[in-house]
Amino acid sequence: MRQHTAKLLDPRKTGHEAGRLEEDLKKRVVGQDEAVRQVVNTYQTYLAGMNTPGRPIGNLLFLGPTGTGKTRLVEALAESLVGDARAVIRIDCAEFQHGHEIAKLVGSPPGYLGHRETHPALSQSALNQHHTRTVKISFLLFDEIEKASDTLWNLLLGILDKASLTLGDNSKVDFSNTMIFMTSNLGAMDMQRALQPGMGFAPSKTGDRRGIGQVEPETNRKLADIGSAAARRVFSPEFINRIDRIQVFQPLGESQLRRILELELHLVQQRILSAGAERALVLSLTQSAKDHLLRTGSDIRYGVRYLRRTVDRALVEPLSNLIASGQVSAGDTIRVNYSSRLERMMFSHVAEALRTVDIRQPLKCLSAQQVAQTAGGTAA
Ligand SMILES: Nc1ncnc2c1ncn2[C@@H]1O[C@H](COP(=O)(O)OP(=O)(O)OP(=O)(O)O)[C@@H](O)[C@H]1O
Ligand SMILES: [Mg+2]
Repeated sequence: MRQHTAKLLDPRKTGHEAGRLEEDLKKRVVGQDEAVRQVVNTYQTYLAGMNTPGRPIGNLLFLGPTGTGKTRLVEALAESLVGDARAVIRIDCAEFQHGHEIAKLVGSPPGYLGHRETHPALSQSALNQHHTRTVKISFLLFDEIEKASDTLWNLLLGILDKASLTLGDNSKVDFSNTMIFMTSNLGAMDMQRALQPGMGFAPSKTGDRRGIGQVEPETNRKLADIGSAAARRVFSPEFINRIDRIQVFQPLGESQLRRILELELHLVQQRILSAGAERALVLSLTQSAKDHLLRTGSDIRYGVRYLRRTVDRALVEPLSNLIASGQVSAGDTIRVNYSSRLERMMFSHVAEALRTVDIRQPLKCLSAQQVAQTAGGTAA
C-alpha cells in the first residue's frame, strides 16, 4: 500500500511580491507593522485571485490617535505599487455635506446647471488614471467618515457592498479593482485619556518630559479594544458587516519618532539633490538639532503631525534663504546645530576637509570631533 506523507504548510508565509511590498511599506511607515501586515494580506488575496467577486479588493477601517500614519500608510501603498502618492483619491467626508458638494463626487444629471463643467472626482477615468502596465489597482480614501452626511453615507455603503456607483449622467463606476480605506477619529479621545500620565495606562517612564515613551504591548491591545468598541457602538451593523478589517493604529514611542525624523530628513536631502546639480548641498545635523526638531514637531497627543511642517520651517526655509542669498553653493556641506543658549538653529559651512563627504550618503550625524572642527562652530 502506498504511504502518504503530509507536509505541513505555513499559511502565514507571503508570496515574493507581497513580501517585497511589506518590506517597502515598513521602510516608509514606522511602528505600524500590524496595519502594514493587514494591507499586505489584502493585496496578497487579490494577487491570488481570492478576493470576493463584485466587491472592492478590500474595505479597511483605520482608527487610532491622530498623526500616527493612517493616511501615510495609504499614500505609501500607492507610492509602492504605482509609484505615486497622488494616485490616492482622498475624500474628506466633512467637506461633502450638501447636494452641490456631493455633485463634485458624482457629477450632476444632464441638463443641470454646470453639468458639463463638473468632472466627477469618482469617475472611472479618475479611478484608473494612475494604473500602470502591471498594476491595475485604484486607491480610495474616505477620511473622517463619522462626519459623512446621509447622502454620502449611502453612497459609501453602496460602494463597499457592490463595488459600484451610478454617476449623475447614469454611467456606472466599477470599484472592484479598488482598495477602500476609511479613517475615523472615533475612540481617539478615550485612547488619549488612557494615555495621559496618571490616568488609565500611561506610556512607560522612559519617555521625555512630553511623555513620549515606549508604549507597552498591553497598552496597544487595550487601545485596539477601545477603538473597535467605539466603532461598533457608533456605526450601524450594516456598515460594520461591510468592513473586512478594523485596524487600530498604535501611538508612536520615542524610538519610532526618531526613525520618522530620519525619514523626513532623508526626504529633505533628496529634495535638495533633485533640485539640480547647482543646488547639490549636503545637510548634516547634530544630535541637538535632531532633538530640537523632535521636541517641537511631535507630541504624544498629536503624533508626528507637525514634524514635517517643523522640518520645513526650521530647516528648509532658512536653507532656501541661504541659497537665495548666495551664502552657500553647490558641493557645500551645511552643518545644522541647535544652540540651546541662543535658542535657535545655527547653520554653518563644514570645514574644507569635510567637503569631500559623499553626497550619496547624506545625513550622517557629525562626531564630536567633526563638530569641534567645524568652521565657526559655537558650542551648543
Ligand atoms: N507611522 C509613521 N511612519 C512614518 N511617518 C509618519 C507616521 N505617522 C505619521 N507620519 C508622518 O506624519 C504625517 C501625518 O501623519 P498622517 O497624515 O498619516 O496622520 P493620521 O494618522 O492620518 O492622522 P489624522 O487622524 O489626524 O488624519 C505624515 O505625513 C508623515 O509625514
Ligand atoms: Mg489622516
